[in-house]
Amino acid sequence: MQTILANISTDSGQHNYPIHVGSNILNKPSLIFPYLAQKKVAIVTNTTVAPLYLNALIDNLKNNEINSVPIILPDGEEYKNWEILNNIFDVLLANNCERNTTIIALGGGVIGDITGFAASTYLRGVPFIQIPTTLLAQVDSSIGGKTGINHELGKNLIGSFYQPKVVLADCKTLDTLPNREFISGIAEIIKYGLIRDHVFFEWLEKNMGKILEREDKILGEAIERSCKNKVEIVAADEREQGVRAILNLGHTFGHAIENAMGYGTWLHGEAVAAGTVLAAELSERMHLIERIEVERIKSIFLQAELPISVPNLNTEQYLNLMGRDKKVKEKNIRFVLLQGIGKATICSDVPINVLIGMLDEYSTNG
Ligand code: NAD
Ligand code: GLY
Repeated sequence: MQTILANISTDSGQHNYPIHVGSNILNKPSLIFPYLAQKKVAIVTNTTVAPLYLNALIDNLKNNEINSVPIILPDGEEYKNWEILNNIFDVLLANNCERNTTIIALGGGVIGDITGFAASTYLRGVPFIQIPTTLLAQVDSSIGGKTGINHELGKNLIGSFYQPKVVLADCKTLDTLPNREFISGIAEIIKYGLIRDHVFFEWLEKNMGKILEREDKILGEAIERSCKNKVEIVAADEREQGVRAILNLGHTFGHAIENAMGYGTWLHGEAVAAGTVLAAELSERMHLIERIEVERIKSIFLQAELPISVPNLNTEQYLNLMGRDKKVKEKNIRFVLLQGIGKATICSDVPINVLIGMLDEYSTNG
């Protein structure tokens, strides 16, 4: 097991928490005990993850005299909403959960986001632990304290910054993760190489085959190196006033793709992969990177079996979905672009004709 220390400056001071990455660590409740303020926890999970991991966690805690209140939500992005959040509050209140009751998120990014938001608001804030069980959640969403729910007008529009007490990323839980979900998580791993870690990118190029085969040691190293990158970025900028925005590489186009295709049709990582290729193409047109680098980026996504283009989405749709109409010239979109592999930059002055030229070439028009 490896432990990475997150040392993050928050509004209320310095927040330090360990991120444990290892195999079978779900069966080590001693990693959780130091962070429990009373012998009662609430565990939020969903109907898919509960049959796989909930009982083992409850039993482990029970053997150490800790009682659990299970809260099992329906599975899906569409349930990351106000109504389901309220259901969590109903169960917490019905079971007399107090300010010292820790809430544990057991699941992927959807469970982590909604549970973190519940923890940040229930009784004005109760302790919170992340046990991420998808690759995406282990390398990205469980770290850094972004919590929230969706609104019908957009994703993650209601939320808070609320850091967990500890994160337990058990790579063994990935054994049951469907391959498409696993591969979607790889997009966020590649992202760290692209935005700030050239050496990691090269390592990923060499080891992608073994990651796809879920080879324990290599997969563990990919998760660890991703977590370290995320921690360093969040430590520098918890509230996304500056550098944290580079974590959104590919997301401006990616969110448009997810939205256009209908949430759930394209997984988040799939949309981010295709979106990152568009960001790379735009970077080349802005004379920030060379063609050879764009091809290398496409090639690593292909190696990871991720999509690099989107069928059936035209320039006008992209512009509308990115909040940008061809006619509204004064409203600039902020793009995360690449100045090289391993170096991201924020760019708010992409000329509209350059953006449209790129989209005309790489989207399906007509
Ligand atoms: P998800 O939570 O929907 O999980 C994907 C699927 O895998 C679900 O069906 C889930 O039930 C299932 N699953 C989870 N663990 C499993 C396991 N071990 N075995 C078998 N099945 C398992 O999706 P995700 O990709 O983990 O997360 C996406 C969400 O994360 C989005 O809502 C996105 O907005 C959010 N997100 C948040 C942040 C952040 O910083 N807070 C960052 C990135 C993404
Ligand atoms: N996943 C984006 C962020 O944490 O800022």
